[in-house]
Amino acid sequence: MKINLSNIKKTKFYLDKNECVGIPTETVYGLAANAYSRNATSKIFKLKKRPKKNPLIVHYCDLKTLKKDCEINNNFIRLYKKFCPGPITFVLKIKNNSKISNNVTNKKKSLAIRFPRHPSTRHLLKLLKYPLAAPSANISTKISPVSKEDVIDEFGKKIKFVLNGGRSNVGLESTIISLIGRPKILRLGGVEISKINKVLKTKLKFNNKKKKIISPGQGRIHYSPGIPIRLNVEKSKIDEAFILIKKRKNSDKNFYYLSKNKNLKEAAKNLYKTLRMIKRKKFKSIAVEKIPNIGFGEAINDRLIRASKF
Ligand code: TXA
Ligand code: MG
Repeated sequence: MKINLSNIKKTKFYLDKNECVGIPTETVYGLAANAYSRNATSKIFKLKKRPKKNPLIVHYCDLKTLKKDCEINNNFIRLYKKFCPGPITFVLKIKNNSKISNNVTNKKKSLAIRFPRHPSTRHLLKLLKYPLAAPSANISTKISPVSKEDVIDEFGKKIKFVLNGGRSNVGLESTIISLIGRPKILRLGGVEISKINKVLKTKLKFNNKKKKIISPGQGRIHYSPGIPIRLNVEKSKIDEAFILIKKRKNSDKNFYYLSKNKNLKEAAKNLYKTLRMIKRKKFKSIAVEKIPNIGFGEAINDRLIRASKF
């Protein structure tokens, strides 16, 4: 999609007035506000009905701006060179003299940051005099948005503007890695762990069974379409939507393909869009075919398990 300069300027206009706006990223759409402003960031929590204790990710356009707010280290530089801009979020130590609002961090000493790849949002960030706090643009615990229409579906007229950037390419949130002390994966997402391990020469795994939740937003219930989901299903019931990743011989109007040839990257891109579509069709429940727990399949299963605990 071509960059629309006048829409980017309109987005800047609202952000400069401390309003919240929807912005496209390659992972999912964000609900953005000036990360230096208490007033602006408090609107994010209100709109999303998000608990104040759940900190926000801050979006930067370059290293120079990031260094004003965060301490960086060697692991960060390695991963930055390989994956940025792109679907990876780093948890770093925040600097004492950083201007990031307390609202964003919940007064913690760490800050989650990322460099989005979407060209319109990169252009926008370059025009702004501040970085953007932006959680996914959905009401807390609901399905994340992957298009302008999805954001409007979530917030309607409650937000002033959504910058249209087409369909999000990755379709799942960024991978989150803490780089304070020993690296830890806090959320599966747009960069596969195997790729991170290659760069860091590590064998990191995602452990979702930990009692203590380090990423407060990674609660048990999330990404919920609001109806029951059954996983690892071979045959769906009549009134269920059936999510599939491989073409079946027969076809049925309750079939929803994430991919027709087990392409897990393609399946990840289609996951939230499909869940939202099924929700709109007023099915009473969803069945999902078994999805291999490798690569992006691991991230898809993580989201589906949380979504199934509605
Ligand atoms: O792809 C993405 O990361 C999208 C786009 C819009 O950038 N953003 C996103 O934000 O997914 P959100 O707020 O929906 O999820 C951010 C997660 C939450 O689970 C939050 O608890 C966690 O990051 N988080 C934020 N700051 C943190 C910190 N300092 N330490 C640990 N976890 C943090
Ligand atoms: Mg979210």
